[in-house]
Amino acid sequence: MSTKTEPLVLGIETSCDETGVGIVRGHTLLADEIASSVDEHARFGGVVPEVASRAHFEAMVPTMQRALDKAGVTLADVDAIAVTAGPGLAGALLVGVAAAKAYALAAGKPIYGVNHLAAHVAVDTLEHGALPEPAIALLVSGGHSSLLRVDDLAGGVVPLGATIDDAAGEAFDKVARLLGLPFPGGPPIDRAAREGEASIAFPRGLTAPRDLAEHRFDFSFSGLKTAVARWVEARERAGEPVPVAQVAASFQEAVCDVLTVKAVDACREHGIETLVIGGGVAANSRIRSMAQERCDKYGITLRVPRPKLCTDNGAMVAALGSHLVAAGAEPGRLGLPSDSAMPITSVTA
Ligand code: KG4
Ligand code: ZN
Repeated sequence: MSTKTEPLVLGIETSCDETGVGIVRGHTLLADEIASSVDEHARFGGVVPEVASRAHFEAMVPTMQRALDKAGVTLADVDAIAVTAGPGLAGALLVGVAAAKAYALAAGKPIYGVNHLAAHVAVDTLEHGALPEPAIALLVSGGHSSLLRVDDLAGGVVPLGATIDDAAGEAFDKVARLLGLPFPGGPPIDRAAREGEASIAFPRGLTAPRDLAEHRFDFSFSGLKTAVARWVEARERAGEPVPVAQVAASFQEAVCDVLTVKAVDACREHGIETLVIGGGVAANSRIRSMAQERCDKYGITLRVPRPKLCTDNGAMVAALGSHLVAAGAEPGRLGLPSDSAMPITSVTA
């Protein structure tokens, strides 16, 4: 239940290609405004860092104004400003961090430089309330795929495993490109897969008994991507049409299978009854249904935010900021750094 006394926190996100400004009071979302430069990157098949930085610079002030208007508040009303300090694209992060410092200085507000990955977990509190701790978090985005044990969202997380090559979202983007689908590849693969059967047996990376000994909670998607490329090439060489929906469905099934099996295994191994899934790939319809089936089977409570909160946004940063304020965490210095390689173990800069 939200009350007027809960902190009003503004969050700024600029780690990749979305300029996001979110405003929350406690766990209540008041505004979530986004300006995306995705269309400017589409023809390159990936995000171009300099183009993203310039777009953040141009979008920052209008996005901030829209968020304040939507929430019906002014900067003076805000109790704290949170900003993504890392990980992400160096130039893109700098724009958000510089803007946050300017707003914090001008309005005399405390500033929190926060971890983008922890924010992908924290955003779920806007949908489902306080996160029971400990929880297992599966974080699957364009740049990261990690399994984490969250003992204390304000104090730190314990990494259990991560991808040893491509991130899950990166695999979606690369396979979409192979299939002639637009960037970013997750949404069009998700849509195409609904029309096809997952009948091609693509490999499940790091699930063989010999791999499990060393990599029980790690992921690998580059072998899967290569297997899809070979399958498609063989079709093309034979002069046969590529069944896009069937390949998309089979690829998606392989990714979701490995992610959900390992996430549920981590919950069971650690005796933890809550699984939260975050990051852009958590918007995928198949990972959501498969995770639900598997969690139900073992009595695990699954928490996945609605798709719009899974992909990058400012609300997630505000949600983590609000959690930090409520936990009594110290704000950062006005000179706080951005860190493109910020480790998941640091919640704040
Ligand atoms: O979290 P996010 O918005 O940005 C990063 O922090 O990387 O994640 C973006 C990634 C992209 O690779 C995109 O293809 C993927 O999330 N994605 C999806 C879906 N929507 C976005 N992947 C699978 N299915 C989706 N529906
Ligand atoms: Zn992200």
